[in-house]
Amino acid sequence: MDERISLALSQYRYEKALKFLGTSRDNLEKGDTDSAANRAYYAVFYAMLSVTALDGFESGKHSGVISYFNHNYVKTGIFNSEISEMITGASKQRERADYKNFYTTPFDTASEQISCAENVIEIVRPYLESSWTRIKQQLPSPIFTRTSTRQFTPDKVESKYIIKILRAAMAAPSAMNQQPWEFWVSDDPEINAKLSQATPYATPAKNAPVVIIPCYRTNDLTAPVMVDIDMAICTENILLEAEALGLGAVMLGIAPHEECMKTVAEILNLPENFRPFTLIPIGYPVSKRPQEDRYEPAKIHTL
Ligand SMILES: Cc1cc2nc3c(=O)[nH]c(=O)nc-3n(C[C@H](O)[C@H](O)[C@H](O)COP(=O)(O)O)c2cc1C
Repeated sequence: MDERISLALSQYRYEKALKFLGTSRDNLEKGDTDSAANRAYYAVFYAMLSVTALDGFESGKHSGVISYFNHNYVKTGIFNSEISEMITGASKQRERADYKNFYTTPFDTASEQISCAENVIEIVRPYLESSWTRIKQQLPSPIFTRTSTRQFTPDKVESKYIIKILRAAMAAPSAMNQQPWEFWVSDDPEINAKLSQATPYATPAKNAPVVIIPCYRTNDLTAPVMVDIDMAICTENILLEAEALGLGAVMLGIAPHEECMKTVAEILNLPENFRPFTLIPIGYPVSKRPQEDRYEPAKIHTL
């Protein structure tokens, strides 16, 4: 698996582990001890998954993940064997909470399950942080790894990543700093399916978890003739930030084709003074290919 994807997946799963831990604490507070035990186990499980993601390891079974983790991370001495006992204990307790008839997890047991999850997360954290740093240091600039992605896994793109991408878009230079852009963001499969028919080449929008549609205003522009250039630069920022986050994206041309622009404006119900520039489906790529080297010294004319 591409290192950038492993990194994004590992960080995503670690955050999910923290989220499950929070939910587990909330459940305990509400007195729902079974749910607390269940969520604490999932915090442990996702902490493990955040580690195994670094190897590109995937398994549909919890037992598969646990035995891979024990074999590769405990037997090798990366983590102390006490983590193995914590994982097994958490798994057994979760099974009792979920499946044992006429059983309610005692408060103290659920509380211990939460401490166990906290410990596991704390144990893996330094390993994860140093692995993430090492990967980031080795990663090439997204400029040289970006390729158009047209097929996406069904995984959702978390809104904080969308916000990062939109922050990158709005960081773009623009003529006289006119910043003509506003962004429509759709994670609605019906809308995305309609968008995918806006041109014969827009099919990647159909199964994308999210589509960003950069649009520009037609009023209050200080350099109106430059608008397409501004929008193209902001589009490139979106593509590069998506790449930097381990996501994939593709620019689907809409402007300057009047018919296509009209279709998209109608689908999005855009205000009168806004026009769509392009469609950018974004998601986790099904596969990644290396970028072709387009460097041609013959295209450089030195004076
Ligand atoms: C202005 C523009 C319009 C594009 N329109 C489409 C499109 O409608 N459908 C599509 O699949 N890709 C589209 N692309 C993506 C290009 O096909 C792609 O960038 C090109 O083949 C180079 O491949 P790469 O992006 O993987 O380097 C467009 C790219 C640009 C810059």
